[in-house]
Amino acid sequence: MRHLLDTAALGRDDVEELLDLTDAFVEVSARSVPKVPALRGRTVASLFFEDSTRTRLSFETAAKRLSADTMTFSVSSSSVNKGESLRDTALTIEAMGVDAVVVRHRCSGAPHRVASWIDASVVNGGDGWHDHPTQGLLDAYTLRSRLGPLDGCRVAVVGDVKHSRVARADVHALTALGARVTLVAPPTLLPPSLAGWPVEVSHDLDAVLGDVDCVALLRMQRERMTEALVPSLREYTSRFGLTAARARRLGPDVVVMHPGPMNRGVEIAPEVADDPRAVIVDQVRNGVAVRMAVLFRLLGAEARPVAEAADLTG
Ligand code: CP
Repeated sequence: MRHLLDTAALGRDDVEELLDLTDAFVEVSARSVPKVPALRGRTVASLFFEDSTRTRLSFETAAKRLSADTMTFSVSSSSVNKGESLRDTALTIEAMGVDAVVVRHRCSGAPHRVASWIDASVVNGGDGWHDHPTQGLLDAYTLRSRLGPLDGCRVAVVGDVKHSRVARADVHALTALGARVTLVAPPTLLPPSLAGWPVEVSHDLDAVLGDVDCVALLRMQRERMTEALVPSLREYTSRFGLTAARARRLGPDVVVMHPGPMNRGVEIAPEVADDPRAVIVDQVRNGVAVRMAVLFRLLGAEARPVAEAADLTG
């Protein structure tokens, strides 16, 4: 694997290999080993043209725990503000000697373009409404950790599917592992075409809730909406929000996920976000190990076998 750009390009074997590798790196963390030297001498750059807390910090943490050097690019203090293009920015960063670039951009396909311009490995850290592969992988990892093998597992992906890159990533990562996914949203918040999405669709959350193992909520992405929100936010919450009343109907083992950042009180009630069935903090924690697995798979797997890398202590 040279780049990680699309979740849909990952088959079951790819996803399982990355999640099994994640297991190895979670164990390293559990042994309180601060760093493994698997990527010593490598450099990972974060090229984020959109805001991020989780993805950027966890990629940087992952790279550091693998002993890679990191380079962070902040658009607000860069020459992008003087009109420098994405291509020239990518070539400039590569010229400083990087082995991998994590790209987040508001335009779908931007990481693919960067991958066509530079020799370094490119990881899609979230592109427009398109994809967010490491989010899909960490969600699949978190769910598999809670429920075991995901064959036949029933997952409702609920909310603003239309503007979501997480929805596509989750659908492909989870169905690759055998889960059955239902998208639950008002028609106005679904993409115009669901061709290539291996899902069922419902517009009735209450009808779906009695028959799920996991509710994966999506953030209402107001910053990507150019049109008026229909239904209104209040109506949306009433029909599609995971309210406390709806959460009471879920069984004790149903898993509640949210990729963050949350709009508490919109797609998820504050008390539901803090319910023991919610694994939102676990998702963030697992994100570091998943991103260690991805960086190791891209940059280190040929140099060191997996078991050896996870066993290295300095
Ligand atoms: N889930 C996610 O991508 O969060 P950030 O935007 O904070 O990276």
